[in-house]
Amino acid sequence: MQTIILREKRVVAPKLTELTFERPSDWPFEAGQFARLGLAVDGHPVMRAYSIASAPNEETLRFLVTEVPEGSLSPRLHELEPGAEVLLEGNAEGNLRPARVAGGKTLWLLATGSGLAPFLSIVHDPATWQTWEDVVIVESVRTLEEAAPARELMEETFPGELTVVVATTREEEEERRGDLSGRITQLLTSGELEEHVGKHITPEDARVILCGNPEFIEAARAILKERGLTSPRFGKPGQLLVESFW
Ligand SMILES: Cc1cc2nc3c(=O)[nH]c(=O)nc-3n(C[C@H](O)[C@H](O)[C@H](O)COP(=O)(O)OP(=O)(O)OC[C@H]3O[C@@H](n4cnc5c(N)ncnc54)[C@H](O)[C@@H]3O)c2cc1C
Ligand SMILES: NC(=O)c1ccc[n+]([C@@H]2O[C@H](COP(=O)([O-])OP(=O)(O)OC[C@H]3O[C@@H](n4cnc5c(N)ncnc54)[C@H](OP(=O)(O)O)[C@@H]3O)[C@@H](O)[C@H]2O)c1
Repeated sequence: MQTIILREKRVVAPKLTELTFERPSDWPFEAGQFARLGLAVDGHPVMRAYSIASAPNEETLRFLVTEVPEGSLSPRLHELEPGAEVLLEGNAEGNLRPARVAGGKTLWLLATGSGLAPFLSIVHDPATWQTWEDVVIVESVRTLEEAAPARELMEETFPGELTVVVATTREEEEERRGDLSGRITQLLTSGELEEHVGKHITPEDARVILCGNPEFIEAARAILKERGLTSPRFGKPGQLLVESFW
């Protein structure tokens, strides 16, 4: 266990905060992996997994933390101010590494809420663009303001073509809706998502990564399985990677 120092805090939406830490010099990671962060609460460390949102070639470690009301750790992380010390346990972990599904034409990155975090790392990793010229990020959020980090990507330029689609699920007013309305699972089933993007998700052309809410993961995985996309297992190649946040 070691401690890292918070350098920057940015409240991007009422329940969503970006935390940027000093990165230990001997702490390598691959885009898509997560770190175990924590704080001492009543003398005992409370540790949770957080996907790394910064790219492997950056000098800082950045995270996107959703505040879970009544949660043990996330409300405390939201209260931190620059200079605070946070516990970092072990090495980077996780199998959400795009290289595991190399191939196809388009990399689709589908997230709910803070499931966007590992995708920020992936699109800022030069290695991604050596494998795919074409990446699509889809984020589903309750309200448009929660999509601030995804919408910031729309202002950036990348070595290839990045399409960002925000789907809102609880915005009533027309002008506050995202690019699409409804859950990603509904938008996949109806064909609306692919129609909007102008590309089809097929095992030949698409590689897909899902991240976020576990019920979303299970439902989307089932839809994609119907289309012939499966996860790589026991040395057998696949087109689909998934990571549940709880
Ligand atoms: C591999 C991995 C990567 C993760 N990466 C992130 C990340 O980048 N950002 C992040 O905010 N969280 C992430 N999480 C979730 C994180 O580990 C904690 O579970 C979360 O911060 C809640 O901790 P807590 O102690 O406050 O709440 P707890 O008391 O542990 O309550 C957990 C409950 O909170 C809800 N919940 C947990 N995480 C989220 C979330 N992200 N969005 C909405 N509801 C949630 C669920 O209902 C869950 O049952 C990740 C989890 C895993 C397993
Ligand atoms: N964000 C808020 O304003 C708010 C308010 C009160 C409490 N909270 C709490 O804060 C935490 C974070 O909430 P969050 O909004 O970031 O995460 P979330 O509940 O996982 O929702 C994020 C996005 O995922 C969608 N989604 C949820 N379940 C799905 C499923 N089975 N299939 C497909 N899509 C699905 C949601 O659509 P739907 O909207 O259709 O569910 C929403 O667009 C939670 O603990 C929540 O209880 C948040």
